[in-house]
Amino acid sequence: MRPILTIALTLGFAATAALAHVGVKDPQVMARMNGMKAMGDDLKTLGQMARGLIPFDEAAANAALVSLKAENDRIPALFAPEATDPKSEALPAIWSDPDGFAQRTTEMAAALNATRTSSPADIAASMRAIGAACSACHEDYRIEK
Ligand code: HEC
Repeated sequence: MRPILTIALTLGFAATAALAHVGVKDPQVMARMNGMKAMGDDLKTLGQMARGLIPFDEAAANAALVSLKAENDRIPALFAPEATDPKSEALPAIWSDPDGFAQRTTEMAAALNATRTSSPADIAASMRAIGAACSACHEDYRIEK
């Protein structure tokens, strides 16, 4: 049951990401967008469990949290090359202020490390801090197109 579910979710995610990124030509930009898309999907999973919109599944919640941490850790390397694409929402400040950008990933890591996933209430208690850490970086380093 679980492997089939995992495969279905993976395929579903791949299809969604491909649609969202139609027209992106630069492979580095595509890679970092896919990383962000994964963070969005993982946060959605946690948010839906916190609000009871999908059944609570501790293993899946923990997997989403582990994935969020791993994707967050990859951000500095994914954004190290100053790659551009007409579809990119990355602001030049990422490369003119790399320390500030890296600091946002440190704050994101702190929010994720403080998150517990043993109950919907646990997750709910951390959703605001996680979302704030995402927004803190997006406000300074991303422009929504
Ligand atoms: C350290 C900075 C930083 C953090 C932390 C961060 N993001 Fe992002 N995010 C960005 C940047 C920069 C972009 C734009 C990338 C581009 O278009 O080249 C982006 C883009 C996105 C996108 C759009 C991807 C696409 O399909 O084009 C989503 C979704 C997203 N982020 C979700 C999240 C979520 C959810 C979190 C928190 C769990 C998060 N991000 C944390 C910097 C960050």
